[in-house]
Amino acid sequence: MTHPRLWLVIPAAGIGQRMKAECPKQYLRLNGRYILDITIARVLDSASFAGCMVALNARDQWWPGTESAADGRVRTCAGGKERADSVLSALNALSDVAGADDWVLVHDAARPCLHQDDLGRLTATLKDHPVGGLLAAPVADTLKQSDEAQPPAVVSTVDRRRLWRALTPQMFRLGALQQALESSLAAGHGVTDESSAIEFSGKMPVLVEGRSDNIKITVPSDLALAGFILGQL
Ligand code: CTP
Ligand code: MG
Repeated sequence: MTHPRLWLVIPAAGIGQRMKAECPKQYLRLNGRYILDITIARVLDSASFAGCMVALNARDQWWPGTESAADGRVRTCAGGKERADSVLSALNALSDVAGADDWVLVHDAARPCLHQDDLGRLTATLKDHPVGGLLAAPVADTLKQSDEAQPPAVVSTVDRRRLWRALTPQMFRLGALQQALESSLAAGHGVTDESSAIEFSGKMPVLVEGRSDNIKITVPSDLALAGFILGQL
């Protein structure tokens, strides 16, 4: 059997509602480049990928003007209503050329600050693992559980010692992830990352500790922060 290959999936079909910009946040610029281009180039140039599938919004009008559109390693497909729909659509598009046991690395278009050491540690840790896993950062703040009052009051302090923030990339086998997403969506489970779909299928993804500066650009103040982090990497 040939060694499983590694494919990159970039969900980029969101509209960036919380960013409140005139265009989807992946098409805002940092140092003159689209965030989407920075993200894709950083990942593609840091590991050996068989190819890359980017899920785009049906109303996307910016993609043809990106650097990535001119990159021969990159293909596109139509995304869906939720992030999970977009990822599943990309996996379905990939399954024409990729094997069920091939690895898929899913990485948010809105996370341009991924450090290549984190990517290297994730792939090295998981390469022989049956399930796969994700980059995650230990929770640093003290966590409070609230009641439903307005304003809310503290009911208890949550033990944070075994709590992690799920980041991307998340790395799973193509076939298993496809099935897990299909079942989760059919069952109406809200899945906000690949790991939760795999968890619903009864498997236990591995947590690989990653840098906390692998931020997802979400609100306007994240843009300057991402620019600063990128300047330090
Ligand atoms: N995404 C996607 N398809 C969707 C929704 C999101 O491919 N239907 C992608 C986004 O483009 C982003 C990643 O998933 O790269 C993470 O999602 P999020 O940060 O929530 O982005 P948006 O959904 O665009 O932002 P918001 O939730 O503020 O609208
Ligand atoms: Mg969203």
